[in-house]
Amino acid sequence: MHAMTIPKPGGPEALVWAEVPDPQPGPDEVVVDVRASAVNRADLLQRQGHYPPPPGAPAYPGLECSGVVTEVGAEVTGWAVGQEVCALLAGGGYAERVAVPAGQLLPVPAGVDLVDAAALPEVACTVWSNVVQLARLAKGETLLVHGGGSGIGTFAVQLGVALGATVVATARAEKHERLRELGAAHTVDYREQDFVEEVTRVTDGRGADVILDIMGAAYLPRNVAALATGGRLVVIGMQGGRKGELDLGVLLAKRASVHATTLRSRPPAEKAEIVRGVREQVWPLVEAGTVRPIVHARARLADAADAHRLVETNEHLGKVLLVR
Ligand SMILES: NC(=O)c1ccc[n+]([C@@H]2O[C@H](COP(=O)([O-])OP(=O)(O)OC[C@H]3O[C@@H](n4cnc5c(N)ncnc54)[C@H](OP(=O)(O)O)[C@@H]3O)[C@@H](O)[C@H]2O)c1
Repeated sequence: MHAMTIPKPGGPEALVWAEVPDPQPGPDEVVVDVRASAVNRADLLQRQGHYPPPPGAPAYPGLECSGVVTEVGAEVTGWAVGQEVCALLAGGGYAERVAVPAGQLLPVPAGVDLVDAAALPEVACTVWSNVVQLARLAKGETLLVHGGGSGIGTFAVQLGVALGATVVATARAEKHERLRELGAAHTVDYREQDFVEEVTRVTDGRGADVILDIMGAAYLPRNVAALATGGRLVVIGMQGGRKGELDLGVLLAKRASVHATTLRSRPPAEKAEIVRGVREQVWPLVEAGTVRPIVHARARLADAADAHRLVETNEHLGKVLLVR
């Protein structure tokens, strides 16, 4: 088969479409013939040599895919050859075929086409596990989503609204109108406005109950300042650096908490648990049209370098898909 290899880490041109060995499924895995994958921020880091795949994962980038099951391992139940699926991957989505632990498969939600389904697994699993399972966002609470226009952000805004939260999203101004259409009650232009002031203002001084952060160190003190009493900050990205200053006094006075998680390196059993939750709780919202895959562009998988260039500009809103 062919896959997108990275013979030498570097710029988008480091991605080379090459012939590679076929995946060999384990007894608890299925092989998916990939119809589409999607670009995630992590893929850019992997291409640059900063984010090696976890042990046992395919060497090629791609944290999610959609496609058709072509082989089923001896111990797998509930999935059959010919079924259309999408999947959360530890890597290997930028390929013609990929072997996936069966627990990381999801059916294609009714009403979503097979290509667009590739936009869902990574964002749905990340947002669900952090905002709902970990931070326990509840109806009537305020959710602050940083990077509202990202793949993660567009999903978090919609899920937060669907769960009955008031959503505040930070993004460059050009993305605000679309974020309001997705249900954000308030948008903050982080280039011109102070998000702490804005969140404080729109919550009448209370602050945000849950913050989904992708900026890391650069936003840590201000995120803690923007938290409500009992608030939960969940850091999932370090676009603004990894070492920041945490004022425990402020955290303590607010009885607030700070969490940081990553999805990719979790063991398959934990991923399967998250996928189960997504299937039970999030897929019905997708099938009802309440939460939709937000697709900015579809590129050819073989032209992944161009898709990476687009994502590096941050001009996209939602996901950039890679289609075979
Ligand atoms: N821990 C995990 O398990 C996990 C899983 C998936 C993703 N992530 C992380 O989640 C983040 C989003 O991933 P993605 O693939 O969805 O990214 P993406 O679509 O490439 O989007 C990145 C976004 O960052 C925004 N941004 C840049 N500077 C900002 C700032 N100062 N304040 C607010 N937003 C800013 C950009 O929006 P503007 O155009 O508005 O600047 C852009 O939309 C990444 O950091 C990624 O590493 C973590």
